Amino acid sequence: MELIPHFFLLFSLARTVFSSQPTIASLSSDALSLLAFKSAISYDPNKLLSNWNLSTPHCTWYGVLCSPTSKRVISLQLSNANVEGTLSPSIANLAKLKTLSMPRNLFKGQIPSQIGQLQRLQALELQENGFSGPIPYQKFGNCEFLEHLKLSSNSFRGRIPLDIGKCSNLRTLLLDGNAFEGGIPIEIGRISELRILDVSRNSLILRIPRELGDCKKLSAVKLISLEYLGSFWNDSNAFFGDIPAEVLLLPSLEIFWAPRANLGGSLPSSGWSEFCSLRVLNLGGNDLKGTIPGSISMCKNLTFLDLSSNGLVGSLPDNVGDLRDLEWISLRENNLTGEISDQLGHLTSLTYLDLSHNSLTGSIPVSLANDTNLQVVLLDHNMLSGEIPALFSILPNLIHFDVSFNNLSGHIPHLKHANGCDNYIGNRFLSPCPDNYSATPLGTYSSPPTGLPVPLVPQCCRHSKLKPFVIATVTLVSVVFFIIVVIVLFFILRRRKLPRPTTLRRKEVVTLADTPVELTYDNVVRATGNFGINNLIGTGGFGSTYKAELVSGFHLAVKRLSIGRCHGIQQFDAEIRTLGRIRHGNLVTLIGYYVGEDEMFLIYNYLAGGNLDTFIHRRSGKNVEWPVIHKIAIDIAKALAFLHYSSVPRIVHRDIKPSNILLDDDFNAYLSDFGWARLLEVFETHVTTDVAGTYGYVAPEYAATRRVSDKADVYSFGVVLLELMSRKKSLDPSFSEYGNGFNIVPWAQLLIQEERFSELFSPELWDCGPRENLLGMLRLASACTVEPLSVRPSMKQVLNKLKKLNS
Ligand SMILES: *[C@@H]1O[C@H](CO)[C@@H](O)[C@H](O)[C@H]1NC(C)=O
Ligand SMILES: *[C@@H]1O[C@H](CO)[C@@H](O)[C@H](O)[C@H]1NC(C)=O
Ligand SMILES: *[C@@H]1O[C@H](CO)[C@@H](O)[C@H](O)[C@H]1NC(C)=O
Ligand SMILES: *[C@@H]1O[C@H](CO)[C@@H](O)[C@H](O)[C@H]1NC(C)=O
Ligand SMILES: *[C@@H]1O[C@H](CO)[C@@H](O)[C@H](O)[C@H]1NC(C)=O
Ligand SMILES: *[C@@H]1O[C@H](CO)[C@@H](O)[C@H](O)[C@H]1NC(C)=O
Ligand SMILES: *[C@@H]1O[C@H](CO)[C@@H](O)[C@H](O)[C@H]1NC(C)=O
Repeated sequence: MELIPHFFLLFSLARTVFSSQPTIASLSSDALSLLAFKSAISYDPNKLLSNWNLSTPHCTWYGVLCSPTSKRVISLQLSNANVEGTLSPSIANLAKLKTLSMPRNLFKGQIPSQIGQLQRLQALELQENGFSGPIPYQKFGNCEFLEHLKLSSNSFRGRIPLDIGKCSNLRTLLLDGNAFEGGIPIEIGRISELRILDVSRNSLILRIPRELGDCKKLSAVKLISLEYLGSFWNDSNAFFGDIPAEVLLLPSLEIFWAPRANLGGSLPSSGWSEFCSLRVLNLGGNDLKGTIPGSISMCKNLTFLDLSSNGLVGSLPDNVGDLRDLEWISLRENNLTGEISDQLGHLTSLTYLDLSHNSLTGSIPVSLANDTNLQVVLLDHNMLSGEIPALFSILPNLIHFDVSFNNLSGHIPHLKHANGCDNYIGNRFLSPCPDNYSATPLGTYSSPPTGLPVPLVPQCCRHSKLKPFVIATVTLVSVVFFIIVVIVLFFILRRRKLPRPTTLRRKEVVTLADTPVELTYDNVVRATGNFGINNLIGTGGFGSTYKAELVSGFHLAVKRLSIGRCHGIQQFDAEIRTLGRIRHGNLVTLIGYYVGEDEMFLIYNYLAGGNLDTFIHRRSGKNVEWPVIHKIAIDIAKALAFLHYSSVPRIVHRDIKPSNILLDDDFNAYLSDFGWARLLEVFETHVTTDVAGTYGYVAPEYAATRRVSDKADVYSFGVVLLELMSRKKSLDPSFSEYGNGFNIVPWAQLLIQEERFSELFSPELWDCGPRENLLGMLRLASACTVEPLSVRPSMKQVLNKLKKLNS
């Protein structure tokens, strides 16, 4: 891509500004900043930025999202786009920018310090790029609104700035996978909103600051990463000091991931309560002393507990049977004594139990055979005696059972799945290991995975409304799921002797209607040609729409949203489900959607007839016939009357315009994008002061007072009727002779007053008639667009009037 000289930009911009199209100054400055941003990009293999030129409004450019009212850029998203280049300082001129999200690209160089001028910035997401240099200090003078700072997997270096404490609204702080040095500043305790902290894979040398315990909403902490790639170990963070009880006992803490972090001290002996939210605790390979506090069994949501390779003594926690959700526990290589509690038989979710290399005595409890999900039981290198309960042979999923080097007697059981004889040696069994056990069909792994990568990325939350546990629940559900998937895959892959995957992601399309089984994430993306330009059928402020042929003859329209995900996914999800339930013969059917980390899209049935805007301005075929026009008007009126009176919840559309009305092959009309205004409320913080709608269609009282009623839709519907009849655009260039801001409504009123009807209707329509009906529809359109609300008819009345025109 060539560099675009500045004067050329200004020149082209001036042309746009002074052309006949209405353009406001702020639009120009944002467009200019975006073009400068583009000029700092040296390589764009997918040509995603090719529509970033002045032939289209900048709000429709790829990855750009504007506020629907002010038309200022509020979000710039180029995730996973493989673009290469540097981040232009011009970005700082996008004064209303809330989201800058460009993960997984090839950006390099430093973050320009000017970024600190973006005072409204809520999310800065630059993960997995090649950025270097320090975190720009200036940034933190002005980070009051910043909620998400994600710098994972770059080459940032230097210290974590002390000033970070000023970002008091920060919820997500991902600094992992860089070359940060020094420690975590104690000022971190001032970030009262902090939920997620990941500093793993750096070169930090630190003591965990006690002040972290002041972050009362903290839900996930990852200090060190232990990627289990064979025995590969790759983290140069080094820790010292004790583990602060203040942090472990935070009531909102759900994940604490610090394996092999050299942490001393002990687990808090008291303070665990029924309010403990902990689900994942990994302190394996540290230097913890003392006992496992019995009251840790108050943490009833615990699913993953790794305390292996520490210096813990004493017995298994009392009431361990209360941990009903426990799926994975390793207490391997400590110095635990006493008996294996028969309460373990209550842990019916347990799949992985490792108590090996301790000093446990007594017998193996029969109740363990109650835990039918058990896949791995490692009890070797203890001092267990007695017989192996025969019931173990019924465990359907048990594939690894090791009791070697104990003091067991009796007989070796016949397990459902054969087990290597090595797993029984070092005991006093009466009979030798059966011949058919001598093989070791399940492989020879001698140690369990001592760590599992935990994805710490939150799904995301809105500042004001979301309750903290929602985010936590979602995070944890996915973590737990992830762990299960990893464990299951671990064993499956072991069996098949396939290479282990390094990343695992689940992408699932939520379906809302009867859909073919082919409606999966991968199939949809593939059917859109990876959202390729050839499948693009429309663009709008919220994103682009793509046509997709899922299976032969079955078409979909996929609307890919360019909306920052950090605006309340849960509400978005709930809202979409609500909208998905709203069904009417003249509403476009939402059949599914996908809300993911990097993208969101909505899946609709595909309508082959295009939109009404194209229909009106295409000068051929059916669009000149009264019956067709009448039918379209009735269809839309039906849809609106339904939304206003019958749907639950009742919906004011707020953005009725021809491009939101779609047609099928038989000219049946369907209203689309209903409910967007509600969705917008999820995204826009100040929606109450904004008007959702399109200039030229918005009712005057709505524009003036921001107070919306269903009569605002009636007004916009009237404008659509006028366009249908006249084949003129609401802001037709031919109106410019009447003055600035003159649109189709005063134009029609003028012609009606002067009874110049033949000029008002498109000549073809006026010629074919029937004129009586045409004039009836004109009267209706005129009534719909009057200013006083009390005179403007309701949508029910409009529908009745339209139906009467037929006779
Ligand atoms: C400008 O963008 C339009 C699409 O909006 C595209 O068709 C056209 O090729 C682009 N022009 C250049 C010079 O890239
Ligand atoms: C481990 O770290 C080195 C640099 O310290 C890096 O080159 C390598 O890619 C890392 N390996 C993994 C698997 O992350
Ligand atoms: C435990 O999990 C459940 C379900 O996810 C949740 O409702 C509950 O609040 C959690 N308990 C605590 C103390 O966090
Ligand atoms: C385990 O504890 C016993 C005493 O309870 C002690 O003799 C032994 O040295 C301990 N082993 C380790 C590895 O700490
Ligand atoms: C084993 O399961 C049975 C039936 O589910 C239950 O009655 C029994 O109490 C369980 N035993 C233990 C020790 O949990
Ligand atoms: C092994 O168990 C037997 C009883 O079954 C007991 O007499 C013996 O002392 C035990 N040996 C050790 C080393 O614990
Ligand atoms: C091993 O042989 C015994 C009988 O000798 C049989 O009951 C058992 O099912 C066999 N196990 C396997 C895994 O083949």
